[in-house]
Amino acid sequence: MKIAVAAEADRAEPRVAATPETVKKMIGLGAEVAVQPGAGIKSGILDADYTAAGATVSADALSGAEVVLKVRRPEQGELSNYGKGALVIAIMDPYGNDAALKAMADAGVTAFAMELMPRISRAQSMDVLSSQANLAGYRAVIDASAEYGRAFPMMMTAAGTVPAARVFIMGVGVAGLQAIATARRLGAVVTATDVRPATKEQVESLGAKFLAVEDEEFKNAQTAGGYAKEMSAAYQAKQAALVAEHIKKQDVVITTALIPGRPAPKLVSAAMVASMKPGSVLVDLAVERGGNVEGAVAGQVAEVGGVKIVGFTNVAGRLAVSASGLYAKNLLTFLEILVDKKEKKLVVNWDDEIVKAVALTRDGAVVHPNFMPKTAA
Ligand code: NAI
Repeated sequence: MKIAVAAEADRAEPRVAATPETVKKMIGLGAEVAVQPGAGIKSGILDADYTAAGATVSADALSGAEVVLKVRRPEQGELSNYGKGALVIAIMDPYGNDAALKAMADAGVTAFAMELMPRISRAQSMDVLSSQANLAGYRAVIDASAEYGRAFPMMMTAAGTVPAARVFIMGVGVAGLQAIATARRLGAVVTATDVRPATKEQVESLGAKFLAVEDEEFKNAQTAGGYAKEMSAAYQAKQAALVAEHIKKQDVVITTALIPGRPAPKLVSAAMVASMKPGSVLVDLAVERGGNVEGAVAGQVAEVGGVKIVGFTNVAGRLAVSASGLYAKNLLTFLEILVDKKEKKLVVNWDDEIVKAVALTRDGAVVHPNFMPKTAA
């Protein structure tokens, strides 16, 4: 069983899909591991570190590989290097990318999309959305504090008092919870909002204050999978009015709101941005999915009337060493269910609910019900 660790073709992607620690574990599963040169360099892992862990490092690492581990979906130009039937495990960004999924199907690779991992306890250690969002939530606060021209904690000094920063977190999933905890550790006064009622208690348990329109619709705003539903226009209007009043008084706003498979909800309008004091900072973690903040620009810090809107992309990648470490572990635990440990070979149970949930392409076709071409579905 040969497992390849691919270098990322996208130069803006600093993460890598395996660490020396996970390489050792894969070898323990009976695999032979080959790594493309330089794959780990931006995550602080040298080729020599992989070699020391027992991998081989070579430019043709992919040839003959039964499994290819990656961070991002392989681009069309890369697919010719993949063997037919190779199992490719990555963050596939499948929504709205039908042509790219078809390209993988046509190339004959079996693609597994880690972000489709079901939210069941058995799969918790394989949940890349959680591992990466947690780091992104932390980093969003660090980025905000770097852009903010004042201190976060209240400081009483001989030269006068610095007031505590007021930080408002919008969207209290994994990223938002970590953002609350981080902002609290830095001494900010933190408030937070979400459409899922379960978040109220979580916000309060972290020492922050919860703010939301708590009507009937709010009480039913969570799917069985634990995700948010898209809210009605009427709810959004009520929530926007409440938020508009609140935002005026905030120094820092961090938005993390997402709805799987849909564009990110617009939560902060240009008028709300304009109502903030100059020097205030917004960080839009949803910018790659269309953004929660009007005026956010992907990859940039935009300035609007003295207010900064931070739109960094791949925020987990801004902590590449930590992000790769956790991502590699997520992949390893997933891989463990695909390997027969006695026989030391790949045995995929296509009826396993985890495998079914993440399998995107197989035998030349897109097989995931959510992404099958309309005529076939
Ligand atoms: P996400 O990244 O999809 O969305 C972030 C947050 O934005 C969510 O809390 C969502 O409710 C919120 N949001 C959406 N629309 C909004 C709006 N209009 N206004 C304000 N907020 C809005 O969510 P994430 O981080 O993936 O977490 C979703 C849930 O899944 C959480 O309850 C989390 O604890 C749970 N979870 C369960 C796991 C498991 O059981 N294995 C693993 C990870 C998370």
